[in-house]
This record gives sequence, structure tokens and C-alpha cells, in this order.
Amino acid sequence: MDRLDELLKQIDPAQLPCHVAMIMDGNGRWARMRGRERGEGHAEGISTVRRVTELSSDIGIKYLTLYAFSTENWNRPQEEVDTLMYLIGWAIERELPDLIRNNVKIHLIGNIDRMPEEARRKLTGSRDKTAHCTGLNLGICLSYSGRWDITRAAQRLATDVKEGRIAPEDINEESIRERLDTAAFPDPDLLIRTGGEKRISNFLLWEIAYSELYFTDLLWPDFGKAEYAEALLAFQQRERRFGKTSDQVTNG
Ligand code: IPE
Ligand code: IPE
Ligand code: MG
Repeated sequence: MDRLDELLKQIDPAQLPCHVAMIMDGNGRWARMRGRERGEGHAEGISTVRRVTELSSDIGIKYLTLYAFSTENWNRPQEEVDTLMYLIGWAIERELPDLIRNNVKIHLIGNIDRMPEEARRKLTGSRDKTAHCTGLNLGICLSYSGRWDITRAAQRLATDVKEGRIAPEDINEESIRERLDTAAFPDPDLLIRTGGEKRISNFLLWEIAYSELYFTDLLWPDFGKAEYAEALLAFQQRERRFGKTSDQVTNG
């Protein structure tokens, strides 16, 4: 039995995270270590996207959210931005038949209007072609940042107040949550970041209030199914207390 099977056997299906979010970091370093262009690292990273999507789907995780391009990533050299935009459109188109076969529903999260026309067309086209799928919900965050999303939710709320749809005193956490781009997803149970950095980099700021955080030094292209299974196992060892005491959690 190989290592992945060994790990999967240890996972308790009843204790899987419902929603896993991932900060896919380390592509540039992966390429640089090999004397290659950063863009080649991004191309290689697509294989990891495939692997984590497949495993999530196979073991029955309902929601997977991937941080593919942040608002701040627009500040990278234009050549790298262009490569990323090209690769994103190319990859989604190439993967579409398998995604449909695996019943994966694509959700686009972020300021998609800011994406170049061709990538946007391929992304929205693919999303629409998976609209009927009922398996894994795959959220792809593009031109996204947590502060961007919260700011926009605030604008939407302000408009609703101004137009009399909601009174200021009726605003609660749910009114904010439902105006976020991530509204169709429950909060992540587990957030994984590859690439060694121990920071959030403006990802899902509202949603990760009680997520379990898992950091690995592995670079994104080196993150495989077995490593993902290890993260899921680590998650099952955590005690989620949500502010309560350990006794309360264990004794109901
Ligand atoms: C990929 O990793 C994440 C994206 C922003 C697309 P990086 O490109 O940040 O790789 P490193 O961190 O420079 O190694
Ligand atoms: C976070 O990675 C963004 C994505 C993975 C899309 P970065 O490489 O942009 O993060 P920082 O700049 O190191 O914080
Ligand atoms: Mg990085």
C-alpha cells in the first residue's frame, strides 16, 4: 500500500473539514531553485491544483477555495501578471472536461471584472458550464482580497440602508456575511498555506475567524495528495473550542 492509501485509511470521514481553503504559495521559488523563470513555477503549480481538487472530490469535501491571484498581485511585474492571466485562462479551459466529469462546480470569487477580457471569458464560460454540477464546490479567488470583499459588502450595506431595505440597527454579522463574495460557502474549517510564510496575505479575513491554520514549508508545486492528506489528519487532531473550555467541548 502506498503512503497516500496509508494516510487516507487513517482519516475519519465523519471528521473531515467541510470547507478547506488554500493559499497556494511558493511557485516562484520553486522555479528559481531550478534556474527557471517564475512563470514556469506557476505552470507547474497547475498540477497541484489538479491534485488537491481531485483528492477533495474523491474523499467528499464539499467546499475547496483556492487563492490564485490577490489584489496585491496586480503590483507584480507586468510580464508575470500577463503570464499568470494567460495560464489561468488556459488551465481552466483545459481542465473543464475533467471538472464536469467529476461533478465539480466552479465559483469565481473576487473582482473578476478587472481580469483581462480573454481570461475573464474563459473563466465565466467554465463557471457557467459547471453550474449544474452538484459535487465539490471549487471557489477560485482571483483579483481577490479580504479587505476588498469586506469594503464592497460595506458599500452594499450602505446602499441598502440609503434605499430603505435595511435599518442600521438591524445590521448584524449575517447581513455582512451574505453580502460577501464568499456568501455561498460556509466558513473554512481548515486553511492551508504552502511555501513557508506564516501569514494570511489578505485572504478571507472575515471568514477565517475560527478556522484551523496549517502551514507547510513545502512549495506549492511540491504539495501532493499525501501532503494534503497529512494536513487533513493534523486537522482531525485539533480541538476546536470556539471560545468554550476543553471540558465543555468534550462533555457536550
Ligand atoms: C504563487 O506563488 C502564488 C501567486 C501569487 C500566484 P508565488 O508566485 O508567490 O511564489 P513565491 O512566493 O514567489 O515563491
Ligand atoms: C499570497 O501569496 C497570494 C496568493 C497565493 C494568490 P503572495 O506570494 O502574494 O503573498 P505575500 O506577498 O508573500 O504575502
Ligand atoms: Mg509568494
